Amino acid sequence: MANEFTRERAWQLLQEWTASPSLIKHGLAVEACTRAYGGSEASRLGLSGQEAEDFVELYAIAGLLHDFDYDKHPSLEEHPFVGVNFLREEGWPEPILHAILAHADYSGTPRDSHLDRALFASDELAGFLTACALVKPSKSIHEVEVAGVKKKMKDKAFARAVKREDITGGAALLGLAVEDHIANCLKAMQDHAEELGLQGNHQP
Ligand SMILES: [Fe+2]
Ligand SMILES: [Fe+2]
Repeated sequence: MANEFTRERAWQLLQEWTASPSLIKHGLAVEACTRAYGGSEASRLGLSGQEAEDFVELYAIAGLLHDFDYDKHPSLEEHPFVGVNFLREEGWPEPILHAILAHADYSGTPRDSHLDRALFASDELAGFLTACALVKPSKSIHEVEVAGVKKKMKDKAFARAVKREDITGGAALLGLAVEDHIANCLKAMQDHAEELGLQGNHQP
């Protein structure tokens, strides 16, 4: 990947475009999940060294930037199209643009690649796991457990904006049981708890 299209540049862009701290945290949370899926897919493909790092960075950047235009352009007509057009003009890699388009159901962009699927699958679940952590007295993601998450998925009043069918459908797209998908994303977010502000009082 050319040097200017780095995770660092993506992080700058997210901050330039986004005023909402919770939307920035959402980008970081989805990044944690897609980065983890990029890592497992890189191993499955037998990638190593720089090749593996570049591969994983595509996943991380797609996660970080998938909603970067949302603060300024939240309408269905504009998000994520305005952001993707901007990234395309800057020359960001096509797999990132495709995944960002495909995370929006109404874009009509099919979820073809593993990255497309990982991003879609991680988006709603990351929000749901954040909500699960924030109702703990400690507000710690370390106290969230897969069984508790599954239980809360059945509670329609809890985090009602999160579409359960996108979580189960996302797991199916990745060929995973929903428990495994939850476990993967939970671990990824626990590993990044501090930057997500979800470390609670946990002492590592
Ligand atoms: Fe979005
Ligand atoms: Fe999102």
